[in-house]
Amino acid sequence: MRTAAAAAALSLLLAWGCGPKRQSEAKPTMKTQPFGTTSDGQAVELFTLANSNGVEIAITNYGGIITAWKAPGRDGRAADIVLGFDTLDGYLAPHPYFGALVGRYANRIAKGTFTLNGVVYKLARNNGENALHGGIKGFDKAVWKARDVSTAAAAALDLTHTSPDGDEGYPGTLTATVVYSLNNNNELRIDYTATSDKDTVVNLTNHSYFNLAGQGEGDILGHELTLMAGRFTPVDAGLIPTGELRSVENTPFDFRRPTAIGARIDAADEQLKLGGGYDHNFVLDAGGGALSLAARVRDPGSGRVLEVLTTQPGIQLYTGNFLDGTITGKGGKVYRRRYGFCLETQHFPDSPNQPSFPSTVLKPGQTYRSTTVYRTSVAK
Ligand code: BGC
Repeated sequence: MRTAAAAAALSLLLAWGCGPKRQSEAKPTMKTQPFGTTSDGQAVELFTLANSNGVEIAITNYGGIITAWKAPGRDGRAADIVLGFDTLDGYLAPHPYFGALVGRYANRIAKGTFTLNGVVYKLARNNGENALHGGIKGFDKAVWKARDVSTAAAAALDLTHTSPDGDEGYPGTLTATVVYSLNNNNELRIDYTATSDKDTVVNLTNHSYFNLAGQGEGDILGHELTLMAGRFTPVDAGLIPTGELRSVENTPFDFRRPTAIGARIDAADEQLKLGGGYDHNFVLDAGGGALSLAARVRDPGSGRVLEVLTTQPGIQLYTGNFLDGTITGKGGKVYRRRYGFCLETQHFPDSPNQPSFPSTVLKPGQTYRSTTVYRTSVAK
């Protein structure tokens, strides 16, 4: 009786609005502004997605580049946590893929060549003798068609690009669509799809460089990383996987428990020497398919946390080893060695030449699909 009476009283109170306060959540917004003109005269725009927690992410349809990502820290102050440039001109000059969409094939393909259905394809070689990140003019340098596809739950930007048959040496006309959406859970969701009119290979990613203390605010060696990966793909001197899936056990590649990125980065380890630090693909335990937590990074100083979820089987940890202070970015900040880290969700590098790796082949009639979520929060 008593319980029933209490329940009735509680439901009355709730009906009167005396229950737990509902957060009045403003719906995420998107604003559009001009961002300049490419060297061949195409106007590009900057889209700023913002949510009710003070997260603000700016994306341009030039290369689908994330140019800024403001996220509050423990002290409530927002900092811009990605490396990049203040203006389009910065991105038009050579740079190491800051914030960009990478395609058709993220990461390396050995000697810029692969065989599909008995046909040998020769790709543009732009990294020594290898092909890297889609070639000389990859998706990072394309002007994507942009559309606002926002809903009540998320501010969303749809970017589409059609790459002609033979572009950078790849077969088939490939149409790629990437939808960036920001919700009030501080999640930037990236949905990739692609179709082709001929058999081809495809591997799409985003190449943001993060520094959770704020861009240009020192190196990322003190950031604590957890990677849900018991194996990685060791590489040769050209950073091409040897084909082995090696256990991380008792190696500096074991991030299964939270460990500072810098704790072992300069250890006397052959693989670290080859990469000049971490520049390796990790084999995610989840195996790809379902959206699963792949990585978590915490900056002890600011309290900012970044989590990465993906449907992809691999993730490249790149610790900005090639940054050398020659690039000046936003607000005049100089980007020195290891001032940013990338967690590029992907299929394994050089898969078109590695029959034992998960396949990157896309056939006409099929749709390539992958999803990655980057989520920020604050740890106490
Ligand atoms: C690669 C690095 C490369 C960087 C910039 C990363 O994905 O693994 O080796 O230097 O991209 O191109």
